[in-house]
Formats: sequence, C-alpha cells, structure tokens
Amino acid sequence: MSSATQKLPQSLPVAASKGGPLPAGPVPVPKHVAVIMDGNGRWASARFLPRVAGHREGARAVRRTIEAAIQSGVEWLTIYAFSSENWQRPASEVLDLTGLLRHYLKNEIAELHSNGVRLHFIGDRMRFETDIGNALADAERLTAGNTRLNLVVALSYGARDEIASAARSLAIAAKEGRIDPAAIDEAMLASSLSTAGMPDPDLVIRTSGEMRLSNFLLWQAAYAELVFMDVLWPDFGPVHFAEALTEYARRERRFGARPA
Ligand code: IPE
Ligand code: IPE
Ligand code: MG
Repeated sequence: MSSATQKLPQSLPVAASKGGPLPAGPVPVPKHVAVIMDGNGRWASARFLPRVAGHREGARAVRRTIEAAIQSGVEWLTIYAFSSENWQRPASEVLDLTGLLRHYLKNEIAELHSNGVRLHFIGDRMRFETDIGNALADAERLTAGNTRLNLVVALSYGARDEIASAARSLAIAAKEGRIDPAAIDEAMLASSLSTAGMPDPDLVIRTSGEMRLSNFLLWQAAYAELVFMDVLWPDFGPVHFAEALTEYARRERRFGARPA
C-alpha cells in the first residue's frame, strides 16, 4: 500500500467498491448484463495465431457466458459481437467474422432454443448478406416463446446511429401528424430505439483492459455500473462472470439521488 493510500480515512466511500466488503443482506443480481467482448485479436497475437483463431475461441467464451448468466439468475444478456465501426476492418477479417456468424447461426441456434434462450438482434442487419438476415429473423421467430434467458446480440450495432434513427422516425411521425412534437419525451425516444421493451442494462462488462464504451448502448447504459476487466475475451469464463457480479453487488447505485 502506498503512503498516499494509507492517508485515506477508512470511512471514505471509495472503500465500498473494488474489493470492499459486500453489503449485508441478499446480494443484488443484475437483471440485465451487457458485455463488450474485446481482446480476441490480442489473444491470438500472443499465441502467434491468426486473428480469426481468437474470434473462434471468443465464440466458445460466448457459450460459457450464456451458461453462467443462466446459472446466476440473470434474465437479460446483451453481447456486443460486431460494431458499426468494425466494417472498417480489413475485408479479410470482416469475411472471417461474417463466416463465423453464419456458422454460429447454423449450428448453435437449435441448442440455444432447447436451453430456453430467446434471441434478439439489434443493429443494422440490412448490411449483412440476405442469408444471414434471414437466419437472424428465423432464430428470433423460433425462440420467441422462450423465457429462461433473453440473449440480445448486437450486430453491426452503433449507438449513435440507433439514436439518430429514433430521432428520424419521431421526426417523420411528427411531420405526418401522428405524434405531437411537444409530447416527445424520454419514454417515447426509448421506445423508438432497437431495444424498445427491453430493460436497461444494470451492469456493463468490458474485457481486455480497454476502458471505453466504443459506441455501445449509449442511451441505455446511462446508469449502468461499468466493470472493466483485464482478461481477454477468449479467456473469459464463469469465474470472471461471477467476479463482475460480485463487484456489481458492492456498488451503491444512487441514480443521482441522495442515499438515505
Ligand atoms: C473483439 O476482439 C471482437 C470484435 C470486435 C469483433 P478484437 O478483434 O477487437 O480484439 P483486439 O481488441 O484487437 O484484441
Ligand atoms: C468494440 O470493440 C466492439 C466489439 C466488441 C464488437 P473494438 O475492438 O471494435 O473497439 P475499439 O476499436 O477498441 O474501441
Ligand atoms: Mg478490440
């Protein structure tokens, strides 16, 4: 411990998080966990493997995380799989990623369905080839009655684009006289986003040590607790998921109000 840390009074609220004691009483479980799955490329580079090997291993981590979410009683899990900015990567990597997505959709949906997972996709699905677009719609239709876990996959997703689209649709509705512009409020905007009807994330986890949101759920995560972890995504597993949930339980969520 540095001398600077030693001078901090023990009662400083900062001690309540990052390894501090868990609050007494039942441990709060986040209803909705969102994950920025980052670090596949670095995982592969460290092993002198092509980046695609990291993405493939990352898909295994997705399976473990879905299982961990179900076991923990989390009801909603959102995963950031491909951002609207990721299209700027070299064509070969984009091809690898869309190839993996195609493979995943073909081979994993039946099992997710039998495990009671309901799938939702957010993002600009029109940018994918039609067979992928159709597979996304089929998966949503097939799993629509499932209730064990809601899995939201963000694909070609960008929060700024999502908010701009919502603004555009409200402006058109106002111009056509279907809504009164003066009636536009937070709830109306939220219900024009691709996440309409979904709860806001309580916890956002980002792996790989990067500490930024990279255009992910900028509206919805307004009051989410953020947990940044040093683990690279392909190494992520149930222990890391539990660690993030423990950190979440230590946080005091105030939503701008003053604690009693
Ligand atoms: C995350 O891993 C996966 C996607 C963004 C598709 P990266 O590919 O970003 O891996 P790093 O950040 O280069 O290590
Ligand atoms: C964010 O990771 C997007 C996904 C995890 C899908 P990036 O690796 O694309 O983000 P930056 O470029 O480091 O911000
Ligand atoms: Mg990255």
